[in-house]
Amino acid sequence: MRAQDLIKKKRDGGALTPTEIQFLIEGYTSGYIPDYQMSALTMAVFFQGMTKEETVALTTCMLHSGLVVDLSMIPGKKVDKHSTGGVGDKISLPLAPAVAAAGVTVPMISGRGLGHTGGTLDKLESIPGFQVDLPLDRYIAILQQAGLCLIGQTQDIAPADKKLYALRDVTATVESIPLITASILSKKLAEGIDGIVFDVKTGSGAFMKNDDDALKLAQNLVNIAVMMGKDAVALITDMDQPLGNAVGNTLEMLESIDVLRGEGPQDVVALTIELGAYMLKFGGAATAIEQGRETIRRVLSDGSAFEKFRQLVKLQGGDATVITDPSRFQRATYHLPVCAEMAGYVEAIQSEQIGVASMLIGAGRERLDSPIDHAVGIMLRKKIGDHVEVGEPLCVVEYNDDTKLEDAVALIRQAYRLGEIRPEKPKLIKAIIT
Ligand code: URA
Repeated sequence: MRAQDLIKKKRDGGALTPTEIQFLIEGYTSGYIPDYQMSALTMAVFFQGMTKEETVALTTCMLHSGLVVDLSMIPGKKVDKHSTGGVGDKISLPLAPAVAAAGVTVPMISGRGLGHTGGTLDKLESIPGFQVDLPLDRYIAILQQAGLCLIGQTQDIAPADKKLYALRDVTATVESIPLITASILSKKLAEGIDGIVFDVKTGSGAFMKNDDDALKLAQNLVNIAVMMGKDAVALITDMDQPLGNAVGNTLEMLESIDVLRGEGPQDVVALTIELGAYMLKFGGAATAIEQGRETIRRVLSDGSAFEKFRQLVKLQGGDATVITDPSRFQRATYHLPVCAEMAGYVEAIQSEQIGVASMLIGAGRERLDSPIDHAVGIMLRKKIGDHVEVGEPLCVVEYNDDTKLEDAVALIRQAYRLGEIRPEKPKLIKAIIT
């Protein structure tokens, strides 16, 4: 077999066989197939797409390029959630403990923030001492004991994706639905899960900026996961404004603690309940979605989800006293309100600009190795549909370093659009794809 023949086949619209895909992925991961041939192949896939069968074969090869965790020693179904990422998306923090408190095991391998989006690991690390880099045996032991564990990606999970994603990033081939699907699924299925709930974000702060693309990705993720023997559903959810009110690591942790205490912003609570309900159904703890919703509402209000989170924090080396007394979290020194220059209704909030502003003050990273300041961030005081008077704060910037503060404030001002007519609040859950 020769890579150039397979590139030509794909370029001309043919479908590659599982053996051909295996040859390409194994060859690329081992270094036998060079970057220039894989670049040509990914560009051919970008234009010609892939059949479902090809995508399954690609996902399978990428999944088995590394470690696939075996959790069969833990009884019951293991279920996770994957979000395509957004601004203020802290849902994993209340969701995983709520689902585990309801009796379903949640193995969660998460990522770090990059660019305008935050990452679950950075939010967890706002808790002093919290360890996200754990050896596999400790990860499994915590899962067995607590029913959940949240760790970072290890080097041994889907190495083919690591190499391929870096190549796609510099060859303008990221935005290909089959390549994105294989990339996401190869990492998620390596966790040893039986079911997965996808939260596919759409809007100004999302990877998928419009509903059509989000729908296509959601459908493909669900189809391929099901073809690979997993339970799967996708919720298409709004990212045309940040989720909740907090953007920034400690601030999002505090908001998540509120949710775990039965409080918190309505949108964060609603999404936790909805995603959790599907996870409970897949995990066998609910026979119907409405029953799942009721259970999640109960564990959030009766303190059991909060207790589960406290247990997790202790097991992962964190200082659990900050969870019970959140006033002990380290906070930013300076607070700057960004005030409305006219009265009116908030018509739109460009989430990406809020995310970039938060990154500029140090809450996020421009490059994977940039340092971050967990304490800083932005607290939104007004969201779409809210009325604001002249001089009233739209949000408050909590910062320590003012080097890029002016640029951040300018971006926040651009992000908010005010008008005279009260707009409808955006629908949080736009579609459910099964
Ligand atoms: N996220 C991933 O993990 N992979 C992609 O290809 C795109 C987004």
